Amino acid sequence: MSIEPIVESTWSEILRLQAEVYLFVKPESIEVLKDKWFRSPRCCFICREGEQLMGYLLAHSWNNDSPPKLFQTLPRGTEGPILFLHDLAVSNSSFGKGVGSTMITHLVRVATLSGYKQIRLVSIQNSMLFWQKQGFTPVEQEVCKSYGEGAQLMQRVLWM
Ligand SMILES: CC(C)(COP(=O)(O)OP(=O)(O)OC[C@H]1O[C@@H](n2cnc3c(N)ncnc32)[C@H](O)[C@@H]1OP(=O)(O)O)[C@@H](O)C(=O)NCCC(=O)NCCS
Repeated sequence: MSIEPIVESTWSEILRLQAEVYLFVKPESIEVLKDKWFRSPRCCFICREGEQLMGYLLAHSWNNDSPPKLFQTLPRGTEGPILFLHDLAVSNSSFGKGVGSTMITHLVRVATLSGYKQIRLVSIQNSMLFWQKQGFTPVEQEVCKSYGEGAQLMQRVLWM
């Protein structure tokens, strides 16, 4: 498997994968997803095996302890020392083969080299144990209801 940057032609595949894995969450528009990529292109990438898209990851620079609102483009002037991991999705046919953890290893490397202090995310769809295995810990803070039932804010500190 190889990690590759996102290019314009990748977006239709990303939208298909998003629809495949998020059955209980409203999908986000391509405009909202691309907005993260425009802000932090090095922190948005895909994983492929041959022609097949196995997974995608979208993360972006952020300046607030609270997560950004879903379904909206990022407000101007909100770049900062936090890397917010907006979405990691692995296709059903690639599930459980180490794709998710490989993409997190890559993200942590890029984030550290880019000088981010921490990575934050909102765990949904019962994924908390996966995130804990990737070194993330829960943060005692409410998240917006639009993230859905059982959503949990988590962080991984890179340096103090
Ligand atoms: C969660 C997700 C990204 C995991 O990707 P993956 O490629 O299947 O994960 P990996 O194969 O790298 O698994 C790494 C470890 O986490 C465990 N794991 C994976 N998904 C898990 C889950 N949902 N709950 C608990 N443990 C999980 C694996 O068993 C493995 O454990 P091990 O190291 O002890 O063997 C993937 O299942 C997915 O895309 N789910 C749908 C979208 C989603 O919910 N994304 C997260 C939104 S916050």
